[in-house]
Amino acid sequence: MTERNQISRSSTPTAGAPGTPMEQGRSELTPEAKAALPHPNKPDTGSLGTPTLGARVDPEQDQTAAADAVRDMFSSIAPRYDLLNHVLSLNVDRYWWWRTARRFRHILRRGDAHVLDLCCGTGDMTLALYRQAGVGGASIVGADFAHPMLCRAVRKSVGLPLQWVEADALQMPFADCRFHLVTSAFGFRNLANYEAGLREIHRVLAADGEVAILDFGEPRGLPGKLYRFYFRRVLPAIGSLISGTRGPYAYLPASVARFPQPQEMLALMKASGFREAAYTPYTFGVAGVYWGRK
Ligand SMILES: C[S@@+](CC[C@H](N)C(=O)[O-])C[C@H]1O[C@@H](n2cnc3c(N)ncnc32)[C@H](O)[C@@H]1O
Repeated sequence: MTERNQISRSSTPTAGAPGTPMEQGRSELTPEAKAALPHPNKPDTGSLGTPTLGARVDPEQDQTAAADAVRDMFSSIAPRYDLLNHVLSLNVDRYWWWRTARRFRHILRRGDAHVLDLCCGTGDMTLALYRQAGVGGASIVGADFAHPMLCRAVRKSVGLPLQWVEADALQMPFADCRFHLVTSAFGFRNLANYEAGLREIHRVLAADGEVAILDFGEPRGLPGKLYRFYFRRVLPAIGSLISGTRGPYAYLPASVARFPQPQEMLALMKASGFREAAYTPYTFGVAGVYWGRK
């Protein structure tokens, strides 16, 4: 395993060298020290009621608890995540990652470019980016806050010049204007605060930098009816069977239903500072990419 193939841990923005993962961060502190740390996403009023599981909670709810629940959920399904992904998407996920990566060859093939794959999970989108970049292409970093997911990414990328960073998407350890491209595949939807997530992506992008957020959509018409039946009935049943736990695969359709419609998402991107924003549906709208330029 190369040195670059190990996981850097951090959760606070660097004031030092741009893009350099910090060697010490929240993950390395004792539980007592962690508990004492302020969290920027935790409302001053403290936790109110039962925490909501991820995917944009209301401002008065506890965003930290929601994010923790998402991290625990992905950590628990990490061993079966790849298998489930491919089975449940009928392998179309590979095509979506490839299609998204291919669109950014103009950046990925530049040796001086820096690329971040946010919420990288077990690294499939990151690897798709690397395949388009090729030898001598962009430097690519994958970041995620679920350690077991990143461990699998490390194992899948032994010998490749990829960097893995354990970090929260709402509080990234990267300097301003560091990256020329930020991607996020099926991860952004899980953030507890979409506006904060977009602002943070905008912060780490260089001028003219591009963002691509790949996620599920909700197709209309007959394909929509078939898809909704599959997504709400069949997928949770198969997912629960293979993973041995019901929660994550009931959460998936619920979080997609709560995700903003394309027009609302594009408006959020504009409001977060992106001067251009557009949506491209994939596979009858089952998935799609939100693209933006800083
Ligand atoms: C559905 S998986 C997608 C993984 C991968 N991008 C893919 O396409 O298979 C969502 C990932 O987002 C990560 N995630 C969710 N919220 C996050 C946050 N606030 N910061 C960092 N990672 C987060 C989860 O840990 C999980 O690995």
